Amino acid sequence: MQNKKLKFPEGFLWGVGTSSHQVEGGNDNNDWYAWEQEGKTKEFSGIACDSWNLFREDNDLVKSLGCNAYRISLEWSRIEPKEGEFSASAIEHYREWLLDMKAKGIRRFVTLNHWTLPLWFSQKYGWHKKGSVLIFQRFVEKVIKELGEEIDVCITFNEPRLILNKGYATGNFPPGKKNPILYLLARKNLVEAHKKAYVIIKKIRPDLPVGITQFCNDFDYFGKGRWQNWLTEKVENFYNWHFFDQIGEAKDFVGVNYYYGAKVKLTYPFYELATYEKKVTDMGWGVSPEGMFEVVMDAWEKYKKPIYILENGIADSEDKYRAQYIKAHLRALHKTIKKGVDVGGYFYWSLLDNFEWNEGYQMKFGLFEVDRKTMKRTPRKSSGEYAKICKSNEIEV
Ligand code: BGC
Repeated sequence: MQNKKLKFPEGFLWGVGTSSHQVEGGNDNNDWYAWEQEGKTKEFSGIACDSWNLFREDNDLVKSLGCNAYRISLEWSRIEPKEGEFSASAIEHYREWLLDMKAKGIRRFVTLNHWTLPLWFSQKYGWHKKGSVLIFQRFVEKVIKELGEEIDVCITFNEPRLILNKGYATGNFPPGKKNPILYLLARKNLVEAHKKAYVIIKKIRPDLPVGITQFCNDFDYFGKGRWQNWLTEKVENFYNWHFFDQIGEAKDFVGVNYYYGAKVKLTYPFYELATYEKKVTDMGWGVSPEGMFEVVMDAWEKYKKPIYILENGIADSEDKYRAQYIKAHLRALHKTIKKGVDVGGYFYWSLLDNFEWNEGYQMKFGLFEVDRKTMKRTPRKSSGEYAKICKSNEIEV
């Protein structure tokens, strides 16, 4: 059979992503650092990928892939190391980082909060406390006044679903709570914090697109039956869409982070989630590109706003499946574009092997391997495949 080429729309953004605590190194003034000290993670973040110092080199790697976009996050604990005191040097450092991206022709997608919180904030406030919203507002205002001109697309929160579920329900992320009341309070505050941030950002930079990105799964059910269907739909709405619904019009796009599909199983007294597909990644997640198709179609039908895939990737230490994984998901994404969905870009997670939260450094999501002693970045074979796609704006199937 002859190879077929699937073209992406002109101006489509090809990107990669990272986040501050996962790559910068030396972030010892935040809640994740404290969590690590309590022995909750398999390894310490330490100097991570030293991207705080090597950002120019990282930007070059992004460029070498033929990417025209890079998603990074700002580390709140660097910018506001003490309550109400902002660090001019940290702000200048991020300015240099962003200007270097601009000079290299890279669109700057900036996440204001990719989970980590300054230690003082987590000790005195935390998302479950009312004061948290005002404090976040002040941070956002400062950042946008200082750096707003150097941001092309702004994501306020990365995956509120995980902040809430892992931080307040299962307790396996900071603040390690398992408390439904605190969960609800935190959710209310996060929604409000986003909405307020949206207004502030628009006041300072009316043309800057603002949104959130959410961890989305395609949910399926075990077996058949009315209750199973009903439950699956409820779970899907709750996890994928509830936060987007709550923020209403305070979004210019819908950010989707998609990794795998999940099965919902009704058990007493609640339900369980399990991964359902054939191939299991190093994270123990399945692979279900069709799931991405479903999620993107749902997002489009619900909100009719531009969609960005802000994370999609695989932990694959031997780089056996990565290229195939990327292509399969892009094929599914292309199908949504064909159906008329406005998809603005795709960001592979991640540029580098980095600090994978509780899992430490064993999970290798990177297009580039990082030598933990020398910090040398080495391209994996799949990075060449991704570069081919980014440079030609098409995939071969
Ligand atoms: C997070 C990333 C993380 C990735 C892989 C996403 O939920 O935003 O920070 O590295 O999943 O686990």
